[in-house]
Amino acid sequence: MLIRDLSVTDEIAIIGFGNIAKAIITPLLNKKLIEPENVYCVVKSEKSLENIKNNYKHKINVFKSDSKESKIIWDCKFKLLSIKPQHLQDITEGDIMKNKDNLLVSILAGVSINRLTQKFPKHSCVRAVTNIPITVGKGLTGISWGANTTEDQKQFTKKIFENTSKIYEFTEDYLDIFLALTSSGPAIIALIIESLSDGGLSGGLPKRLSENLVMDMILGTISLIKEKKLNTSELKNLVTSPGGTTISALRVLEKKSVRSALIESIVAASNRSKEFS
Ligand SMILES: NC(=O)c1ccc[n+]([C@@H]2O[C@H](COP(=O)([O-])OP(=O)(O)OC[C@H]3O[C@@H](n4cnc5c(N)ncnc54)[C@H](OP(=O)(O)O)[C@@H]3O)[C@@H](O)[C@H]2O)c1
Repeated sequence: MLIRDLSVTDEIAIIGFGNIAKAIITPLLNKKLIEPENVYCVVKSEKSLENIKNNYKHKINVFKSDSKESKIIWDCKFKLLSIKPQHLQDITEGDIMKNKDNLLVSILAGVSINRLTQKFPKHSCVRAVTNIPITVGKGLTGISWGANTTEDQKQFTKKIFENTSKIYEFTEDYLDIFLALTSSGPAIIALIIESLSDGGLSGGLPKRLSENLVMDMILGTISLIKEKKLNTSELKNLVTSPGGTTISALRVLEKKSVRSALIESIVAASNRSKEFS
């Protein structure tokens, strides 16, 4: 099978060039997989326009959404839709003069492929859910293809995201739970890190030291599980001796229903995502 690679001649339009769009596109520009002159982005405010023109390290094309020039984006074969979901109503699909097989990839939380297809009927619409660690090249991206997405378009989309994330392909009904685990997950992990380091603080450790110990302990635990191919119960048994310190800690967590609270937190995030859809 022919693998569709990125080509420096590919024209890429980005509707909304905020934190997440920058995190996806900047590594591609850094690695010269795409050329800045072939990137066309649209933002809402004068402030963002000036900021990108003056401070963004790559000289991409940037327009204000209410300008005549911004219409050029509709001629790019590939569009990344990366505005906030509440601004979707402000976007109107433009006339497409140049190409056939136009692809629009949306990273908007809770906006279904069906809704995207109604709004952008001239496009093959794809939905991607990605998470904030893409900013450091360690993201996770779940993708659901539209009914008419071609093999070529799928390969192209994967090439865009694989620079910053691992890619998982799902039917759309799994995207809510994927979002709950991977997009809300970093906040839950941050809360766990914060709480455990407050425990260290209570025992007299300085805050920064306590936080670093917790983060290194988490990284070490993950490495151990992965390298030794342990399951989580095996790891737990490894460090829990009869009448010891760890079982005392685990008893408190069980008494406070922490396990159940964590399960319910993911279910709640997934349900909320379904409500948005
Ligand atoms: N943040 C996360 O952790 C995360 C993770 C995964 C996915 N997402 C999704 O990614 C999307 C973007 O999030 P973000 O954090 O990157 O948002 P953001 O930083 O606020 O960026 C939004 C961008 O959209 C532009 N915009 C607003 N209205 C527009 C319009 N009518 N036409 C063109 N551009 C317009 C904004 O321009 P101005 O700056 O001029 O207003 C800005 O460049 C959201 O839909 C979110 O659900 C976010």
